[in-house]
Amino acid sequence: MTATSTANQFTPKIRTALPGPNARRVLAGDQALISPSYTRSYPLVAKRGHGMVVEDVDGNEFLDFSAGIAVCSTGHCHPDVVAAIERQSRELLHMSGTDFYYPQLVEVAETLSRTAPMPGPHRVYYGNSGAEAMEAALKLARYHTQRQFFIAFYNCFHGRTFGALSLTSSKTAQRERFAPLVPGVFHIPYPDEFHPLHGAADVTAACLEDLDRLFHTTTPANEVAAIVLEPVQGEGGYIVPPAEFVREIRRICDRHGILLIADEVQSGCGRTGKMWAIEHHGVAPDILTSAKGVASGMPLGVTLARAGIMDWKPGAHASTFGGNPVCLAAAQATLQLLESSLIRNAAEVGAYLKGKMQSWPERFPMVGQVRGLGLMLAFELVSDRRLRTRDAAMRDRLVQAAFEKGLLVLGCGPNSIRLMPPLVCSRGDADVAVDILESCLAAAAGKP
Ligand SMILES: Cc1ncc(COP(=O)(O)O)c(C=O)c1O
Repeated sequence: MTATSTANQFTPKIRTALPGPNARRVLAGDQALISPSYTRSYPLVAKRGHGMVVEDVDGNEFLDFSAGIAVCSTGHCHPDVVAAIERQSRELLHMSGTDFYYPQLVEVAETLSRTAPMPGPHRVYYGNSGAEAMEAALKLARYHTQRQFFIAFYNCFHGRTFGALSLTSSKTAQRERFAPLVPGVFHIPYPDEFHPLHGAADVTAACLEDLDRLFHTTTPANEVAAIVLEPVQGEGGYIVPPAEFVREIRRICDRHGILLIADEVQSGCGRTGKMWAIEHHGVAPDILTSAKGVASGMPLGVTLARAGIMDWKPGAHASTFGGNPVCLAAAQATLQLLESSLIRNAAEVGAYLKGKMQSWPERFPMVGQVRGLGLMLAFELVSDRRLRTRDAAMRDRLVQAAFEKGLLVLGCGPNSIRLMPPLVCSRGDADVAVDILESCLAAAAGKP
């Protein structure tokens, strides 16, 4: 694959109709054989990736602003990550950290502990995915506190296994026909300043009032094991809560002996321009979960806790594959790249990209709001700017139009588009993405 435009900028090359002939063959097989529960937005059939670029099976080259759903943090196939995987896979593919020891378990834990947003000492549990990291966090919170209840937020996403799904409340399609879920989970609104709860002027106060009502009606605070929070809401719309809201949640947790679990599966690993998004709020969680970007595409889930909290006994929780040595080698290389340059790049290029998008609400009638931190950015599509009426159909049309022009983006929330490129994204790449999105917006607005 050759990036044929200027050094630090890739311009997509669409060479066939989409999907192309090879893609169509794969799509037919996929349609016949693969679970219909997946939610594909457009027919990209990937063959190889490099940095910001994904090439499909017909030789079309796309600029990737989706990063495999915020996973390929270091870009596709970063040479350092690939080298670490190659090295490790020649030495030891698997041993199972639940029954044996190997150095990589400790090495990555040391790196994670050093970067943790809460004071140490820490302990680390390894799983294979975001949902598994959440399952471990939930079980640990119950085990440690010996309390049964959890409080989560509407529109948040924490995974699809039964425990994690009991917290997830981003779409009913994710829950339909799966009840009964894990009992003892209560939801309160997440503070969204663009769609304030009941039109409240102060969203922080309005959401906290709901929590207070819960404590006084259905859910005694002293029986709550944990409040589970996405420091930036991901699937639900890339919504950044007011820092004061997160700080007040921390104070409430402290007051009632409740643990604060920060789900950083999507927002973590440098994506927001800090290693962990909760650092933007100046808050330390008790338990932090990570996955997605932590190993650049190799499956790894991390549950990191203050050591005093991770006090469960042998046999309480484990996973055969969790903390696989090859995945850990990829994680160590990833974390090194993040710390040495990519977190800084996410902050810088993210600010540049957001700066370029800031004028969209004035220029395009369907853009309601631009929001986000670092390279975790989104814009919301509305049919009536004054009423902020959500326009899901417009969002879907724009995602499709961007794909046809060679830009990979995904939706989030009911009516937003998220921009979550690999953190190697350059200003030039941001310029190309903005040009494509602006041409799609102009076309949708009927402007030449
Ligand atoms: C915030 C958050 N938590 C948990 C998960 C679940 O992760 P996985 O799909 O790896 O199970 C996701 C996935 O999108 C997520 O965004």
